[in-house]
Amino acid sequence: EQAEIGLIGLGVMGSNLALNIAEKGNRIAVFNRSPEATRNFHAEAGALQDRIVPCETLEAFVAAIRPPRPIIIMIKAGEPVDQQMELLKPYLSAGDIMIDAGNANFHDTIRRFDNLKDSGLTFIGMGVSGGEEGARHGPSIMVGGTEESWKRVETVLTSISARFNGEPCVAWLGENGAGHFVKTIHNGIEYADMQMIAEIYGILRDGLRMDAAEIGEVFGRWNGGRLNSYLTEITEKVLKATDPVSGKPMVDMIVDAAGQKGTGKWSVIEAQNLGVAATAIEAAVAGRILSSQKAEREAAETIFGLPTPVELPTDKAAFIDDLESALLAAKIGAYAQGFAVMAAASAHYNWNLPMPTIARIWRAGCIIRSQFLDEITSAFTADPQAANLIVTPAFSQMVKDADGALRRVVSHAALSGLPVPALSSALAYFDAYRRGRGTANLIQAQRDFFGAHGFDRIDGVDQHHGPWGS
Ligand code: 6PG
Repeated sequence: EQAEIGLIGLGVMGSNLALNIAEKGNRIAVFNRSPEATRNFHAEAGALQDRIVPCETLEAFVAAIRPPRPIIIMIKAGEPVDQQMELLKPYLSAGDIMIDAGNANFHDTIRRFDNLKDSGLTFIGMGVSGGEEGARHGPSIMVGGTEESWKRVETVLTSISARFNGEPCVAWLGENGAGHFVKTIHNGIEYADMQMIAEIYGILRDGLRMDAAEIGEVFGRWNGGRLNSYLTEITEKVLKATDPVSGKPMVDMIVDAAGQKGTGKWSVIEAQNLGVAATAIEAAVAGRILSSQKAEREAAETIFGLPTPVELPTDKAAFIDDLESALLAAKIGAYAQGFAVMAAASAHYNWNLPMPTIARIWRAGCIIRSQFLDEITSAFTADPQAANLIVTPAFSQMVKDADGALRRVVSHAALSGLPVPALSSALAYFDAYRRGRGTANLIQAQRDFFGAHGFDRIDGVDQHHGPWGS
């Protein structure tokens, strides 16, 4: 009996995905560059061994799969994927589907898809979210490719995906790079979400002088309410963990310099290219950059010292309630921006991205999974063409209820010298977005003054240059 699907690359993510596929009743052929890794993987697969076909050559691997063959490639993103595809090609036949399940740059995905166009082979760029745990037991899966190739893999992918109230968190989102693009924006939102949580943590730690376990309690409480989400949940767990070496809170022993692999940056670059303001995501990426400049920051602290936190505007309990609302309001801004980037990309790349479906498949399995995404699903289901999440009825009400708290929190942080770049940019975004008459009239006048760039008049009079010379 031939395998239903194949998988190349038995690293942590690849192994977990393969075990998940086998566990859900699918026969899978596996291949790894090192045959020993393939043998070990099979030997350790326990009860799932019967459904796993370990292959030591690409030829045997391809022969083991039922045509047209879907082959998942789960290796390091970039060059290695192109190399692997070249090695694989000679063994494939018309209709076979190479599936890149890594965190690829969607421009690479579009290129790979286009390059295969006349070869009879095809390509799927598949975003997989949920980390190791998700890959093993149910990730959120974002698929981009031809509809025909999707039909071939739909059953297997549906069987392994996460479920939200029984609904599978997997969908075909459009041609070529659509799946990897949506995964990129997922990560951009993930960056913003994490940065905002870290900023709130900073206010609690450095402003309110609470210890890690106390802050963990706060996040634990919030996880029972409007902020219920995977990231809120793990924040509580992280803050309550103790370092076995020092006996101190684990989080206090970790160097405050965040890494990044590129997906957040790609979201921002794409937002800029498409002319979409994604300021909260930008702030989150910049936040990671600044965090990594640890030595420079320490040197600056010796010059400037640290400001003394000002007194709370209200009592402590009320202020902590404000922090909860502020985080919610700012999160709405970040998600609104992420969805706005997707709407612009959808038009630009002709993907016809289904916004309600994207929100729907992010409700479980992925890193940003939350109750909140169920509400976003409802908002976009009611109005799939909504100009911005912020102006949908449910979210505009939430923003009206919470923007006062965000304002108080950002003001307090500014006066206390606590950095809140993502929270404050979400607030500034909202304030700019909701104001019908802004200040760009002055910028237009300046542009016309120094460069004769011209402007439009509010009264429609046909005169487009100012009287600057007189
Ligand atoms: C996920 C994660 C996962 C990974 C990213 C982010 O959805 O499962 O987003 O893909 O954590 O690579 O990585 P960096 O924070 O290292 O950029």
